Amino acid sequence: MKIRIRRFDGSKSWWQDYEVEAKERDTVLDILLKIRERQDHTLAFRHSCQMGSCGSCGMVINGKPSLACQTRVLELKTELIRVEPLYNFPVLRDLVVDLTGFVGKHRAVKPWMIRRNPEELEDASSEFVVTPQQNMSFVQFDYCIMCGLCDAACPTMALDPLFLGPQALAQAYRYVADPRDEGLDDRLEVLDDAHGVWRCHFAGSCSYVCPKGVDPAKAIQFLKKDILKRRLFRSKKESSSPATLPKVEKVPDNAPHPPPFDYKFEEVSQA
Ligand code: FES
Repeated sequence: MKIRIRRFDGSKSWWQDYEVEAKERDTVLDILLKIRERQDHTLAFRHSCQMGSCGSCGMVINGKPSLACQTRVLELKTELIRVEPLYNFPVLRDLVVDLTGFVGKHRAVKPWMIRRNPEELEDASSEFVVTPQQNMSFVQFDYCIMCGLCDAACPTMALDPLFLGPQALAQAYRYVADPRDEGLDDRLEVLDDAHGVWRCHFAGSCSYVCPKGVDPAKAIQFLKKDILKRRLFRSKKESSSPATLPKVEKVPDNAPHPPPFDYKFEEVSQA
């Protein structure tokens, strides 16, 4: 079979064709490993678990963001397989993309349990019960393996690199929907922003490509609802005037735009 790979050496990019003997059950990752072992040891790509758990082998296969270790070549049913690095990510080399911004956005939504009373960490007054029904409302978002396929498939990410993206927003919702969490207000700065939830126009491609059955598009719509509810609740409490609609700042086309927050990692206190 023939496989066409998008190569990049740091300065120039080109398509390179290889011919490989494929077995019936070979995955795209198996083919890439054969090429690197037998034909071209300069080919760069990431992989680890080879069983769809680590999320490191994400790439675009025949135009669709996919996990290479979960894509069987014969099931693709094409004579030529086209492999590219993930869309919407800066490419470092060949099929290896830079995940710094992706991980920074994930971190920016504070994907951990936030409680108002820090003393609970040392001395919890009681057990925090989550019913099976409550658990069902957010458990699917725990299955995210951070492969980045959803961000690569998102048309909004292609237009606005500062958009938080479906991966980070789905993780934010995982905690916002958890009845033990009290951190929505702490996350509003990034979620209720021109590059936050309001930028999503519900294309749904994130949910279509997720290899774990996570539905980030649904999470984002629920986040919008939770943020609106918080605004209404606040405006009722703070004044008798009617609640205002979310203020979405206009992002000028092609204009340099200052990042709304710093994507850099911060130290997390272990205390
Ligand atoms: Fe781990 Fe593919 S190698 S998900």
